[in-house]
Amino acid sequence: MTPSPTFCRGPVLGIETSCDETAVAIVQDGVVTAQQVSSQVPIHRRFGGVVPEVASRNHLLSILPVVQAALAEADVAGPDLAGIAVTNRPGLIGALLVGVQTAKTLALLWDTPLVAVDHIAAHCWAVTLRDVKGAGAGAGMCLPALALAVSGGHTSLLKLNGPGDMELLGATLDDAAGEALDKFGKLLGLPYPAGPEIERLARGGDRHRFELPLGMRGRDDLAMSFSGLKTAGRRIVDTLTAAGDLDATARRDLCASYQNACVRQLVAVTVRAAERSGLHEVIIAGGVAANQQLRVDLEQACVSRGWRCRPVPLRWCTDNGAMVAGLGSSLLAAGVREDPLALDALATLKRRPIRATESVR
Ligand code: KG4
Ligand code: ZN
Repeated sequence: MTPSPTFCRGPVLGIETSCDETAVAIVQDGVVTAQQVSSQVPIHRRFGGVVPEVASRNHLLSILPVVQAALAEADVAGPDLAGIAVTNRPGLIGALLVGVQTAKTLALLWDTPLVAVDHIAAHCWAVTLRDVKGAGAGAGMCLPALALAVSGGHTSLLKLNGPGDMELLGATLDDAAGEALDKFGKLLGLPYPAGPEIERLARGGDRHRFELPLGMRGRDDLAMSFSGLKTAGRRIVDTLTAAGDLDATARRDLCASYQNACVRQLVAVTVRAAERSGLHEVIIAGGVAANQQLRVDLEQACVSRGWRCRPVPLRWCTDNGAMVAGLGSSLLAAGVREDPLALDALATLKRRPIRATESVR
């Protein structure tokens, strides 16, 4: 077991543009000293999801002002940075390219070391961050740990060995959990992204009213699936709509039942992964990790077995620059560097163990 992670002493700038948030932050010795974001959610909402080309164009408009705002917040001059970290994989290619080109240009301009990070690895590493008051979730963490990474594009169980060094243990075979929530919310006419809206409605609902299938029941490996749940959810919506019964109470109960089915599957497979791997420190990361039912239920499942559960603090669950700066800071401390003239962006990950320390060109 290796003890808690080390960070670069100086300020590291993190740039995240893989989807619809233009996010920049500064992390110094594991502490987030600045965090800025220009969210495109209102822009994409009218389309019911992210439009890639629109996302790239808006990243272009926002990136430099957001970088400047982060530097001003931390009171750091660009040339005084100890490093620049950027998400270069996976994500929307046009959106990633804006962040990567900006990071390369600034690294050359300021003669600053550059590192590239994997988006999912950065989500998981956010558990190690602290705020200026010292609050975080990773105090005393030992590696390797088990990480459940749940976002709009990914649902994976990973063995986290070190900064950006992860082995894939299991993953969804179809939709990601966040995607299953977003698509179901769209059916109900909820605004994008629907995960937080479903959570809000679910709070007043009866999670046992509608019976929904738990994906991959009967299998005992670490695969997950959300497509059957989505189909069953759609059937219930159609039936209620046809009967004129999709009233406010039914909507709340349906959201509670749907969220419950998602969470139950995530918890069941994560517990199985912890039992099989013997990894009893369990990190929950990614946008869906903001969900209270998931946090509470997985924590209970862990604590009742004598395991440690470490949900990433809420402010670093959905896409943010701090997670990128944090992982970049640890990679820089480990001596990782990219060539600013050669770094490229990569839209998809290869299906094999992911090592963020390897260069992707
Ligand atoms: O990590 P993230 O910000 O972006 C991606 O990398 O995809 O995750 C976004 C996903 C969306 O599907 C969104 O609906 C979901 O996270 N999400 C939530 C909550 N907050 C965000 N899902 C459930 N409950 C929440 N509170
Ligand atoms: Zn994400």
